[in-house]
Amino acid sequence: MTLPGLKFTLVALALGLACSQSSPTLQGQVPLALDETADTGVTGNTKGNQPIQWRVIWTTDPQHRATISWSTRKETGDNHLRIWPKGKDSQHRKVVAQHNGTFTLNVSEMKDLDPVYYHHVRLDGLEPGVTYEFELNSDGSKSRTLSFRSAPAIDSTESFSLIYGGDSRTGKEDRQRMNRLSAELTSRLPDAIAFVHGGDYIYDGRQFLQWTEWMTHDELRTTSDGRVLPIIPTRGNHDIGDLYDEVFDTPGAKGENYYHTTLPNGVNLLTLNTNISHAGDQRVWLAGQLMGLRPDSRWLLAQYHRPAYPAVKQPGEAKAAWVPLFEAHDVDLVFESDGHAIKRTVPIRGDKLDPTGVVYIGEGGLGVPQRTPDSDRWYLQSPGMSGRGHHLTTVSFSGDQLRLVTQGFAVDEESGRIGDPGGDSVIFDEVVMQRRGAE
Ligand SMILES: [Fe+2]
Repeated sequence: MTLPGLKFTLVALALGLACSQSSPTLQGQVPLALDETADTGVTGNTKGNQPIQWRVIWTTDPQHRATISWSTRKETGDNHLRIWPKGKDSQHRKVVAQHNGTFTLNVSEMKDLDPVYYHHVRLDGLEPGVTYEFELNSDGSKSRTLSFRSAPAIDSTESFSLIYGGDSRTGKEDRQRMNRLSAELTSRLPDAIAFVHGGDYIYDGRQFLQWTEWMTHDELRTTSDGRVLPIIPTRGNHDIGDLYDEVFDTPGAKGENYYHTTLPNGVNLLTLNTNISHAGDQRVWLAGQLMGLRPDSRWLLAQYHRPAYPAVKQPGEAKAAWVPLFEAHDVDLVFESDGHAIKRTVPIRGDKLDPTGVVYIGEGGLGVPQRTPDSDRWYLQSPGMSGRGHHLTTVSFSGDQLRLVTQGFAVDEESGRIGDPGGDSVIFDEVVMQRRGAE
């Protein structure tokens, strides 16, 4: 259907989509030993200096910067990576990890666990839109060759996609299935540039054992040819404590964890933190960002954890603190998590349907058991939608169009878990948005 202003074209609902089931070894029958890795390409990984649990992290300026992180089970003195533009090994450079430390263990973990070490290489000076290969090295023990692509230039007009999802804190086998689906999508989407995670990675952010499982399972998002989709992280209400910053190298400033990510083709993403005051400095920062970015943004996006327009719970503080700013500055699309259901709202302005308003999608299904949404809420009525299912949303930008495809796995009605872990994925929702004024 077509509405004036923001234009939505409802393309298909609940289509079947076959996904291949090529996947690495199913593991994660918890608890994981700390020397385990999901990477079947690594051999000899029981050595304590083996680089494991790699991550590529984006915050600001992903055209030129990225953090590449990994873990080792023993303290290592020489931690570096080699990186080179794909196919140009002769141009490799060595970058030493600038930030190394010991993951924080809580008191009970200290009794049973040896320390585990993190290593962060903060890359600068990358060329936009270049596929880089890299190899991690801790005291001579190497990872296999991995790769990622820097973000295309901000004035690039090429099409690109983000993969968005949230809430992976429980349902660990389902979490791994969703990570495999992400790898499948990444393999099929050469223009995918990043994975936007809406928070609640684990149940208790102060428990390192939960984080180390998550980091190991996150390796499963790597494609069979070693492509790692950078993660743009958001802090969820379960992600309390110091470990979030140790895992993601303190995205945004310490104590803030909010930041702006410049994406290609005039797309800007603001990541906010619903664990701290929504007013004060964060709101001032948000207002300034929105005012500065809107005139030159083709699409202006925001993400945070606790919803303003929830499908399950009551609205969070974002509704009073941030929604008026979103509407004043014509934010196009907002990613929310936390509810453990699927939703896409109608465009909202002034707390009612308005074709020129803001659309909110979400809200959490990377393995966490699904709840039943309150589908009677006015903002979930057609052309909005709601449902249950473990899901990822592919957000594809092409010219003045933005396409949302939400897909994943149907649930067992009683448990809310994936009904058939070996089954094919399905599409729950597909919609096309047209940029304001472009129709
Ligand atoms: Fe949450």
